Amino acid sequence: MERPDAEAPVIVVDKVSLAFDEKVVLKDVSFTLERGHTKVILGASGSGKSTILKIILGLLKPDGGSVFVNGERIDTMSETELMQVRMDLGMVFQEGALFDSLTVAENVGFKLYEESTMPPDEIRRRVEEVLGFIGLNDFIDRMPSELSGGQRRRVAIARAMAAKPGILLYDEATTGLDPITAITVDEEMVKLRDLENVSSIIVTHQLRDAFFVATREAVRRGDGYEIVAADARKCDEAEFIMLKEGVVAFEGNAAELRAAKDQYLRSFLS
Ligand SMILES: Nc1ncnc2c1ncn2[C@@H]1O[C@H](COP(=O)(O)OP(=O)(O)OP(=O)(O)O)[C@@H](O)[C@H]1O
Ligand SMILES: [Mg+2]
Repeated sequence: MERPDAEAPVIVVDKVSLAFDEKVVLKDVSFTLERGHTKVILGASGSGKSTILKIILGLLKPDGGSVFVNGERIDTMSETELMQVRMDLGMVFQEGALFDSLTVAENVGFKLYEESTMPPDEIRRRVEEVLGFIGLNDFIDRMPSELSGGQRRRVAIARAMAAKPGILLYDEATTGLDPITAITVDEEMVKLRDLENVSSIIVTHQLRDAFFVATREAVRRGDGYEIVAADARKCDEAEFIMLKEGVVAFEGNAAELRAAKDQYLRSFLS
């Protein structure tokens, strides 16, 4: 595959519509994700957030409009062509399910064992590396049932990043976690964006987490890193869109969202 153009947007969703039978789920949805940026998708339950991510992965085909990933139109691709595109896409699913009968290492390395030609000892090294990144090295040979909810969520992130995708899609990665654990997951998203130059789409109900990711930055310090307040330019690289019944009801940065007057938007801010 050709190297994606570094300047081109990583994802373009253009006038996408989808209905399940009579029910219109997405109507003329358009947005663009630039490389290294974050797009936060907010919206009530049933507003179409997960559906958009599934369309970007090619798991669902839109009825109208077009979708580009790394400059290639994907909504018209065959399953075989999509497999190539998906190598650069990592998804943390809303259901978040790990395979209960596999160890943490086997879960994290799953895609590499199944879909790559990487030798097993190299996969093991990559698994150790991503679990180290996420701070769960000590759990590498445990079973998912021995982990807390937050640890499981972080393993799901490690699994999504194992193949070093340039794009990560997070569907409610912090939902159901207490605020402190949620922040450890938010920090992983910030680190991946700023230290690994990953472009991300974050679907969430939790505005607190969205603002955390939009207003913090990870910087290298010696061997490690530090999470600091982001400067204004970095804050502007996090764009928010709000879906309302399948339509984009708002698009803007964190400051514009905070200042929004619309009642539906306000109900998320309170
Ligand atoms: N495969 C499907 N068949 C029929 N209807 C579907 C299907 N998938 C989703 N829907 C419907 O599409 C609408 C949007 O679903 P979606 O999962 O995208 O919502 P969501 O915004 O992610 O909600 P939540 O916040 O609860 O996760 C819902 O009304 C849902 O019932
Ligand atoms: Mg959903």
